[in-house]
Amino acid sequence: MQSLEIKGGLHLKGEVEISGSKNSALPLIALTILSRQTVQIDNIPNVVDIKTLTKLLQMLGSEAHFNSNTLTINTKNINKTVATYDIVKTMRASILVLGPLLTRFGHCDVSLPGGCAIGSRPVDLHLKALEEMGATIEIEDGYIKARAENGLKGADIFFEKKTVTGTENIVMAAALAQGKTRLFNCAMEPEVIQTCEALRDAGIKISGIGTETIEIEGTNGELLNIEKIRVIPDRIEAGTYLVAGAITNSEITITNSEAKHIASIIEKLEEMGFSFKIDNDKITIFPASIIKPVNIITAEYPLFPTDMQAQFVALATQSNGTSIIEERLFENRFMHVNELQRLGADIKIEHNRVIIHGRKELHGADMMATDLRASSALVLAGLVAKGSSRVHRIYHLDRGYQNLESKLAGIGANIKRIKGIL
Ligand code: EPZ
Repeated sequence: MQSLEIKGGLHLKGEVEISGSKNSALPLIALTILSRQTVQIDNIPNVVDIKTLTKLLQMLGSEAHFNSNTLTINTKNINKTVATYDIVKTMRASILVLGPLLTRFGHCDVSLPGGCAIGSRPVDLHLKALEEMGATIEIEDGYIKARAENGLKGADIFFEKKTVTGTENIVMAAALAQGKTRLFNCAMEPEVIQTCEALRDAGIKISGIGTETIEIEGTNGELLNIEKIRVIPDRIEAGTYLVAGAITNSEITITNSEAKHIASIIEKLEEMGFSFKIDNDKITIFPASIIKPVNIITAEYPLFPTDMQAQFVALATQSNGTSIIEERLFENRFMHVNELQRLGADIKIEHNRVIIHGRKELHGADMMATDLRASSALVLAGLVAKGSSRVHRIYHLDRGYQNLESKLAGIGANIKRIKGIL
């Protein structure tokens, strides 16, 4: 396995280009199942999760190939509708093929994704919605066996909780259903919006995009003309690099980013004393004269994203005072805390929140990555820790960050990939 070795204590300077959003590209790849023709997806991030989902579609019979950050995919010849355990277990967002396969073919077996490091990650809301659209769903031998031989029917769906991939799955299922589907309490993340916009651009009558209530007129099984889509910038990658600038108290600029998607992140960084210059897709962060503590509660978009919680826990160790960060979406998303404590951070976990006492000087040490965003928090801490740190099992990072170490080295970090000891 591989590790990252970081020599901390350096200031950063320069520009980082933000890649396309992993969490927008994933539903868009699943969406190609509904297309009657070849789809070209531009600004695809070159990360493992994207390769995994593309491989799944190829296993089902699709043709797909990458050319740098463009994916060309044709799903016309799909001849299998079984998403097997080995693939789904490695990437639980594979659940996104459930809606498209079922609405196009009338049947599919998708392995239950199961939990992951950050929580149990149920998919009951996805299944309940499909049943309300007329599907029969059986859980057998760890598989979701979904049937809708006469196609899905439009229905009124009330999501008990806002679910990002749940909303994306059902929006895609509704696109080929018979009649109108109304979805209530939808997630409003930019990634959900892009899925809806891609359906609209393919001729689907869809209203309420970006709101909690979405209405979709299905095509009754007619496939869609989806030609070309450009993936939106990755707002979590953007936030992660802004925190890299903040934690080293440096001036850095991120490019190819969308400021309105990260308003809640910028607001919290301003509360901590940092300032910004926003010029179209360029966002520059300027050092704080003194880094102030911060209180955060994670919530659904447009509020503060859970995917930035770990990064802000690392940053809060450098603030002058006590910060409280509460995690409201996942039950086990504090795996980074023990590792940060190894560097000398003063952090206490109290149920679903952490109390961080700063400012604490951190000292380099070995750390273990456990999940995608926790791992990025360990790298950020390594940038400011005195001496050398090593983050092990960085395959977690490679799932969602394209060229992380070269992007950081490009703005002055002393970081390199080494053969891991674990
Ligand atoms: C998406 O996961 C993201 N993944 C996650 O990003 C992100 O953390 C999460 O949304 C929350 O913003 C992708 O988009 C591929 P949810 P998702 O369904 O859709 C509960 C990353 O780091 N729930 O919005 O799986 C669930 O337990 C990843 O890139 C149910 O109870 O999250 C959670 O408490 C990590 N039943 C809450 O809803 C369901 O059927 C939100 O989950 C579905 C969800």
